[in-house]
Amino acid sequence: MQTITLNNPLDMHLHLRDDNMLKLIAPLSSKDFSGALIMPNLVPPISTKDEVIAYKKRILDAIGYDTFNPMMTLFFKPYSKEFLQSVKDEISAIKLYPAGITTNSEGGVETIDTVALAPTLNAMSELNIPLCIHGETNGFVMDRETEFMSVYEELAIAFPKLKIIMEHITTKDAVKMVQKYDNLYATITVQHLLITLDDVAGGMLQPHLFCKPIAKRYEDREALVKIATSGNEKVMFGSDSAPHPKSMKENCGCAAGVFTAPISLQVLTQLFEKNNALDKLQRFIS
Ligand code: DOR
Ligand code: ZN
Repeated sequence: MQTITLNNPLDMHLHLRDDNMLKLIAPLSSKDFSGALIMPNLVPPISTKDEVIAYKKRILDAIGYDTFNPMMTLFFKPYSKEFLQSVKDEISAIKLYPAGITTNSEGGVETIDTVALAPTLNAMSELNIPLCIHGETNGFVMDRETEFMSVYEELAIAFPKLKIIMEHITTKDAVKMVQKYDNLYATITVQHLLITLDDVAGGMLQPHLFCKPIAKRYEDREALVKIATSGNEKVMFGSDSAPHPKSMKENCGCAAGVFTAPISLQVLTQLFEKNNALDKLQRFIS
């Protein structure tokens, strides 16, 4: 048996929820990871400094004495430079959701207009606050991410000093785009490295594999595995582990989200080994 040591494994996209769910799941991430970027899509979303500080405390309480760094985020809306300056030291990024695109994103951005959003995005650039984006349009479900590529491109050009993270990429088009501009980066989940739409809906419908963006085609998965296992510095692991109560997954009207936190590190290790890329796992995970 081979022992693998990973330094500082990070999950750069994690949903920890709140209340009883938080208490139940946070220890499962703090057990395997040394830190995570915590998504702000609670109800209501995290959008003030006090909410960031209070949520971080609830997370630290939930993990007990485990050493784990919850890197906090704010839910994107137009913020003033003064506000961003005041909250800067409490957050690691701001997460932008197009309005209504996924779970608890109703208060997101209606139109991503580089002129209207410029004051906030310029301030983020100047303060070196990265922008994480859920990159989907509300078009046909298999085309939503690809249709969003022009928005990433426009933002990357308009705000060249802003670090933009293309969250949970699922397509070969996104793999191409992330490499085209210096200020674009991407996270990749474990499920999108493993499954395609066939696994979700090709046989009996699998609600626990349903997430947004939905898993795509074989050639998309191949492109994701190739870049993840290549040691490319533009991509990193972000599980998007997103638990819902069983009653929300196993009913008619299944909530989007795949819960992978307890097994993602082990499954990634298997995948990298299968691809003869164990030496690249450290780079992807941290
Ligand atoms: O499947 C998803 N679930 N995708 C998201 O973007 C949000 C997440 C959630 O919060 O449940
Ligand atoms: Zn997410």
